[in-house]
Amino acid sequence: MNLDRKFIDSLPKAELHLHLEGTLEPAHFLALAKRNNIEIPYRTVADVKRAYRFGNLQEFLDIYYRGSRVLVQERDFFELTWAYLERARAENIRHVEVFFDPQAHTSRGVHFDTVLSGIAEALEKGARELGISSRLIMCFLRDLNLASAFEALEQACEHKDRISAVGLDSAEAGYPPGKFKDLFDLAKAEGFRTVAHAGEDGPPSNILEAIDILGIERIDHGIACIEDDGLMTRLAEMKMPLTVCPLSNVKLGMVERMQDHPLRAMLESGLMVTVNSDDPAYFGGYLNENYWLAATALNLSQAQIYRLARNSFQASFLDHARKAELLSELDAHAGNRSIGTG
Ligand code: HPA
Ligand code: ZN
Repeated sequence: MNLDRKFIDSLPKAELHLHLEGTLEPAHFLALAKRNNIEIPYRTVADVKRAYRFGNLQEFLDIYYRGSRVLVQERDFFELTWAYLERARAENIRHVEVFFDPQAHTSRGVHFDTVLSGIAEALEKGARELGISSRLIMCFLRDLNLASAFEALEQACEHKDRISAVGLDSAEAGYPPGKFKDLFDLAKAEGFRTVAHAGEDGPPSNILEAIDILGIERIDHGIACIEDDGLMTRLAEMKMPLTVCPLSNVKLGMVERMQDHPLRAMLESGLMVTVNSDDPAYFGGYLNENYWLAATALNLSQAQIYRLARNSFQASFLDHARKAELLSELDAHAGNRSIGTG
């Protein structure tokens, strides 16, 4: 098939798995370190890029949390979020559901409200000026203690107008979802939507636990499901959305090469998969690059790419009206290009 990059770039789409702290570009990292008087062992963008070396999830996380330490003031979080939204607009992303990791900041003495205000104000400006709708998802760091997660939830409860959902991220190995049952029960009782990273670096049983014990509505990553036929069937039957991040999976060694990625097999098994960028400043590609690399390596058809974009709206936490509006925008786009949408 002769796939045209413009087809991907122009497609209206949503991004549902994006860590705001993972959009910190090296030049911005250097500028913030200077502005906030934080000593770092790098002088140039090339120095920083050279340090972005990781062979697995833990090595990446160590670098990611170290990078986050230059985020101190409200305006730092605003700028970070705004820079991402401007990129999103350029990539025809019409809706975003973004993660933030408050415990990575409160543990360094940065106030929860400082983090949240900077992010939320940029998201609100994004809706007004760029026409990008959004939802904010607060993630719990699964490798910190539970008391700290409950504290973050307590703070989120004071900001239900700005935080829509809670999630679970950071190191997966050794931290199965079941441990967080009481936390997620409370979050749900408080009215938050729920997602969790599971089956990225851990076994298919983590996906099952996230569904059966935490009762989550969407799985982040979930690629380990490919090892369990029964689970694949169940995910397809329940139309459980999965936010897959192809480039992240290659960069963190979850799959050896993009050609080995299970995305196409997941799609063809009828799963509600979406494509996302995870931590694009660290993995070297934003959303359209993820679509492009996956589509070319796996030889996806235009109809499959269209399906991924359609799933991204369908799997979102948007209300019915906005979802319908974006789906019809996508349909009009596909109609103009006479794509087989089967
Ligand atoms: N996995 C788990 N936690 C994370 C990631 C990831 O890819 N990125 C930022 N936090
Ligand atoms: Zn992630």
